[in-house]
Formats: sequence, C-alpha cells, structure tokens
Amino acid sequence: MKILVVGSGGREHAIIRKLKESPKVDKIYAAPGNGGISRDAECVDIGAMDKEGIAKFAKEKEIDLVFVAPDDPLADGMVDTLNYHGIRAFGPVANAAVIESSKVFSKNLMKKYHIPTAEYEVFDDPAKAVEYIEKNDKYPVVVKADGLALGKGVIIAKDHQEAVSAVKEIMEDKKFGDSGNNVVIEEFLTGPEVSVLAFTDGISLKPMVSSKDHKRAYDNDEGLNTGGMGTISPNPYYTDEIAEICRKTIFEPTVAAMNSENRTFKGCLYFGLMITPDGPKVIEYNARFGDPEAQVVLPRLETDLVDIIEAVIDERLSMIDIKWKDEPAACVVMASGGYPLAYKKGIEITGLDEGGQVEGATVYHAGTKYTDGKFLTNGGRVLGVTARGKTLDEALEKAYLAVEKIKFDGAHFRKDIGKTK
Ligand code: AMP
Ligand code: GLY
Repeated sequence: MKILVVGSGGREHAIIRKLKESPKVDKIYAAPGNGGISRDAECVDIGAMDKEGIAKFAKEKEIDLVFVAPDDPLADGMVDTLNYHGIRAFGPVANAAVIESSKVFSKNLMKKYHIPTAEYEVFDDPAKAVEYIEKNDKYPVVVKADGLALGKGVIIAKDHQEAVSAVKEIMEDKKFGDSGNNVVIEEFLTGPEVSVLAFTDGISLKPMVSSKDHKRAYDNDEGLNTGGMGTISPNPYYTDEIAEICRKTIFEPTVAAMNSENRTFKGCLYFGLMITPDGPKVIEYNARFGDPEAQVVLPRLETDLVDIIEAVIDERLSMIDIKWKDEPAACVVMASGGYPLAYKKGIEITGLDEGGQVEGATVYHAGTKYTDGKFLTNGGRVLGVTARGKTLDEALEKAYLAVEKIKFDGAHFRKDIGKTK
C-alpha cells in the first residue's frame, strides 16, 4: 500500500513510525512532514490545509489511504474532499469533526444527551458574558473560545477581573480570531485529568490505552498552557472501574449522540476527561489523535495499525481484536526557549543519534528541519523523546537519559513528567 500522512508534528512522526511496522505498507508520503519525518517517509511540499492539492497528489500517486492527522484540515473538510474524489481517508468528515472545532456544539451535545461535563453558559455578546460573570460570582471560572485555538483558547480566571479580561481578549480583541465569536463560560472542575483516545467506526468504539498529558509549560504545572509538554501511558488514575464508568456514561453515549445528530464520527475520537469527586466528566473532545498522546499510545500498539484503520473505514471495527503492550511509555517534549510565546527557529540540534541510541528510546521530531546535513529547530515543540520500560519509572528514566544527550540552545523541557497530578 501507499499511504499519505497529512501533518507535520511529533504526532505525525509517531503515526508514520507505526505505519512503517506494517508489512502491508510499501511507501509512505508525508505532507508536509518535517526534518525527522523525512528520514522515515517522502516529504512532499503540500500544506496540511491544501485539500485540493492533497487530493490531486493522492490521485497522481495512486495513494491507497490518506491519514488526516491534524484538527484544522479535519474541521475544514479534507476527508469530505478526499471522499468526493473517491480516495480512502482516515478521519472524521467535517460535520463530525465539529465535536472538536466548536465547543458550543460539543457542550450542547453533552447537555442534550446527558453526558457528564462541567455546567456552562454560551454567549455571543461580551456584555451578556460579563453580566453573567458578575451574577455568578464563583471563582475560579473557566472562559473558553468556541473555536480552534491551538490548545490556548481556554482561560482559567481566578477572580472577577481576570474573567472580564478573558472575555475581552477572546470576544473583543479577537486574540483567537473568529474562534472567539462565541464563548463558553463554565464551572471549574477539579481532579486528575486523563486522555482516552478511541477508534470508532460509528458503530462500535474501542478505547486505546489511557494517557496523561502535561499541558503547562513549567514544572509543578506552572506557566501557560501549551499543546502538551509530555505524556505518560497508562494514566495511573484511570482504573478499570473508572474505565467502565466512562464506557457507559461517556464513550458509548457520545457515539450514539453523534449518530442521532446525523454526524456519524469515524476515526480517532479523543476524550479529555477529568476524574472529579462526582465521577468522570468530559473537559473536551478532539477529533483526532492527541499530540503528544500519540507518542506514548502508538508505541504500545501491537496490532497492525493499517488493519485497524481499514476496519474503521469499512465499518467492521467490532470484528478486530486490538492488542497492546503492557509496558508503560513516557514522552518528554523538548521545546524552544520561550514557547508557548515567541521563540527562535533555525538553531542546530546535536546529539540526536546518541539520544536515539538509548535502548528503548525513540526520538519523534515535532518542529525540525533538515538542511545541509544538520537538524535545525523549526517550531515551538521541537522533539518528543519517548521510551518504554518495564515500569513507568524505567520508561521515564530512559526518556530523560536520551533527553540529556540532545542539545540545542535555549532547549526547554519539564523535569517532572509523570510526577504531577
Ligand atoms: P481544553 O482545551 O478544553 O482541554 O482545556 C485546556 C485545559 O484547561 C484542560 O486540559 C484543563 O486542564 C483546563 N480546563 C478546561 N476546562 C476546565 C474546567 N471546566 N475545569 C477545570 N479545568 C479546566
Ligand atoms: N495534547 C492535547 C491535544 O492534542 O489536544
């Protein structure tokens, strides 16, 4: 088979490495890919948002399967375009990807189908939002831009003033563009967070092994929210008992709710959960693999990923038995100094070979470029250094051993991955 993976981050690198293990795969292309991906796949210079460009390339090269990994092209209907051209694609169509791209949609869906989530109100008028904040007067309170905002459109306001400025930034200053035409203001929940990714063909749903993301930039969960600074799998808070509650009250009802709305979801559905004192609740849905969740979940997958993808597309997922390795995995993200705010690009990275040689470790590239025989930084999150071990501690030890061998000016990584709640 010839497979084209759309995207350019660490998640896409992890997907490509897993696809490469399949005996069914002859050739992998990445659009646009990155420096590290170019070692594992042929990178083609087509942007991840270029629906027609991707479809044209897929036709020309007789691609058997296109894996659309990032949120924006899914929300923009890349899978619809590919299907229209008769090209097989993995990922939800636009009317199902809306479960991620509109928080107003997902909150209203959960309310309508009684899926546990934080209490909330929706506003399209900043004055009304402020009025509500004043009346509600409970802090912290969570203010969310409706649309996609690179994981940064959520503000946890600790007092009245912060809540009012969050509304202003999102709705009036348009910090996240049109994503902020509407806001969701919701109740602040507490408890450990769990990410559960699941394959679904719209009929059945198969959860993958659980994981935990570390979203804040600095140790002890301080600093700004980022796309994710590191992950572990499994998530120690996700017990079998919690998993069963999630299946009954969240996972299956979500698949059924999307069907009832004529928005059948096929692909990877990501449940961002919080295990609150009142039980598990949904914080957010994503319509795709998480980044860097994919970097710890996929290395644990034993079953051929191509077989699973084909079963999802052909709606026979229930017939497949998906096997996972027991070994835990950990991923430490090495980021550019300054991320998630401004950072420099084009800084040389050394020690990648040494890091990659740590037994059990894999270096996934997120924001790198390969020029003149050198790897250079080319993004906020640069590398996802991942390892498996017999225990989580062993996985973490190996990942950090590999991280210590890799150097670039200004490199920043968290030292407490796997250690915080
Ligand atoms: P989201 O993009 O919706 O996943 O939100 C980003 C992060 O903000 C989450 O991972 C949580 O840590 C935090 N968060 C979002 N909503 C809430 C909430 N209702 N209560 C507490 N924390 C939240
Ligand atoms: N790591 C969180 C996300 O992919 O949205």
